[in-house]
Amino acid sequence: MRLAEKSISLLSAGVALLASETVVSAQPTTCDLPTTYRWTSTGALATPKTGWASLKDFTTVNYNGQHLVYATTHDTGSKWGSMSFGLVSNWTGLATAPQNSMTSAAVAPTLFYFAPKSTWVLSYQWGPTAFSYRTSKDPTDANGWSAAQPLFTGSISGSSTGPIDQTVIGDATTMYLFFAGDNGKIYRASMPIGDFPGNFGTASTVVMSDTSNNLFEAVQVFTLANQSLDSSGGAKYLMLVESIGSGGRYFRSFTASSLGGTWTANAASESRPFAGKANSGAAWTIDISHGDLVRSNPDQTMTVDVCDLQLLYQGRDPSSSSGGDYGTLPYRPGLLTLLR
Ligand SMILES: *[C@@H]1O[C@H](CO)[C@@H](O)[C@H](O)[C@H]1NC(C)=O
Ligand SMILES: *[C@@H]1O[C@H](CO)[C@@H](O)[C@H](O)[C@H]1NC(C)=O
Repeated sequence: MRLAEKSISLLSAGVALLASETVVSAQPTTCDLPTTYRWTSTGALATPKTGWASLKDFTTVNYNGQHLVYATTHDTGSKWGSMSFGLVSNWTGLATAPQNSMTSAAVAPTLFYFAPKSTWVLSYQWGPTAFSYRTSKDPTDANGWSAAQPLFTGSISGSSTGPIDQTVIGDATTMYLFFAGDNGKIYRASMPIGDFPGNFGTASTVVMSDTSNNLFEAVQVFTLANQSLDSSGGAKYLMLVESIGSGGRYFRSFTASSLGGTWTANAASESRPFAGKANSGAAWTIDISHGDLVRSNPDQTMTVDVCDLQLLYQGRDPSSSSGGDYGTLPYRPGLLTLLR
């Protein structure tokens, strides 16, 4: 925010009086999208309630000025599930917010408001089809969602998990589905925006290909707002992909000028990642794993303010072990804030 200060000094009987008027400029602030990122981190923001070993895969929107967060859960046995936190006005509030269990699981959820039809959408994996979605008028009610509808019914080759970790984003005309396969590939499907909410069908296109570790999972795609035009190089969209590094999980980032276009590396190495052990500033975790950028608009554009970048991520105590069971690793939410 740009501040213009107008000061008037008055001298009266040897006493200096200062009257100060602060004017908020209407001129919008813009910021460069970095290519070198440096963050500061909170500690773990919440502990899973009794019966759960971990809270994972966060998706978050602003809802009436508060943060609404959905997440994957894993119990202390072998069961995946999902939950939402009660609304919080600030991130430390997650520590005491209710943890609302969902009776029908929505694993690796993506939450957004589909503005053209004025409905909330929760998309997820491991429902009746490869990806599913449910709709609601009240996203704060963890168990107020419609029955599952098919979001994607295709399959992929060369993947032991199958399609995993979907995200959905739209531009003015088209809705896109992006997903991973734990296999070094990022996939895309699309449909006209007028057909959404609906089924993307069975067809998908590989948009990026690398080693499994370099393009593992947890793909997220965002529209960039308030980006300095002179730094954008035409890039309007940001993609994050979770990678497996020698020192923990980390995010690589890519940009594109259109959602149907090609992706170019933005900060894509473990030593200079979008976010990872090398630059997170976090003391409690070396993993910077599956989460969501804090969006400035809850709608299908998945818009983030380049001047206000924050990542809600999952981390865990690096000394934690779970007898080899990935599901019970004690993941918890943390928040990164970009340092400029
Ligand atoms: C954050 O939210 C919690 C409850 O959600 C509240 O008790 C606390 O005062 C808030 N902190 C700030 C700094 O607003
Ligand atoms: C752009 O920046 C302004 C000023 O910080 C902020 O109020 C606004 O929400 C931002 N716009 C978007 C779409 O993020």
